[in-house]
Amino acid sequence: MHNEIERILFTEDQIAARVRELGQQISRDYEQLLGERISHEPPLAIGLLRGAVIFLADLARAMPIPLELAFMALSSYGRSTSPGEVRVVKDLEIPVAGRHLLIVEDIVDTGQTLAHLTELLRARHPASVKICTLLDKTPRRTRSIKLDYVGFTLPEDAFVVGYGLDYAERYRNLPYIAALKQSATRS
Ligand code: IMP
Repeated sequence: MHNEIERILFTEDQIAARVRELGQQISRDYEQLLGERISHEPPLAIGLLRGAVIFLADLARAMPIPLELAFMALSSYGRSTSPGEVRVVKDLEIPVAGRHLLIVEDIVDTGQTLAHLTELLRARHPASVKICTLLDKTPRRTRSIKLDYVGFTLPEDAFVVGYGLDYAERYRNLPYIAALKQSATRS
C-alpha cells in the first residue's frame, strides 16, 4: 500500500458489486420511464472528467440498455473565497434538448459543482436530468441537491482517493477507494 494511504474504505470487490447493482437499478428505471422509446432516445450518460472516468467505464458496462456516453470537464476556482464559482472547461459537443441525461460524478462534497451543472444543463431543456455519484460525502454539503443514485455514503470528512479519485492527480489508478493520511494533504 502507498505510504500516504491511511486505510481502505471500499475494496475492489465491494465497488464491483455496488456498481453492478447500480447499473441494474438505473437500467430498470430508464426502461420503466422510456418503455419502447428507449432504443429511439437512449439516455445520455455524462461523465465528469477526470474523476468519473473509471466509474463510468464500469457503470456503462453494467447497464444492459441502449446508452450514449459524453464527457464534460468543470473546474472550480477560488473555492475558498468564492464558493460556487464553477467554470466549464470542456462542454458537450451535442445538443441535449429533449434527451434524458444521467450525470455521472465521482464524489459530491459541498454540492456546488453539481448544483451549477444541473442548472446549466436544465437551461438546455433536456427531457430529464438525473445524478449518479459513486460517493456522497455528506459533512460539508452547502447546496441541497437530489442525488438519484449513490454508490456509497461517506459520513466523515475524509479525503479519499482511488478508483478515479485523485489527490494532486495521483492515485486515480488504485483499484480500491482509500482515505488519505491527513499529513499527506497538508504538504
Ligand atoms: P463539490 O463541488 O464540493 O461537491 O466538489 C466535488 C468535486 O471535488 C469532486 O468532483 C472532486 O473532484 C473533488 N473532491 C471533493 N472531495 C474529494 C475527495 O475526498 N477526494 C477527491 N476529490 C474530491
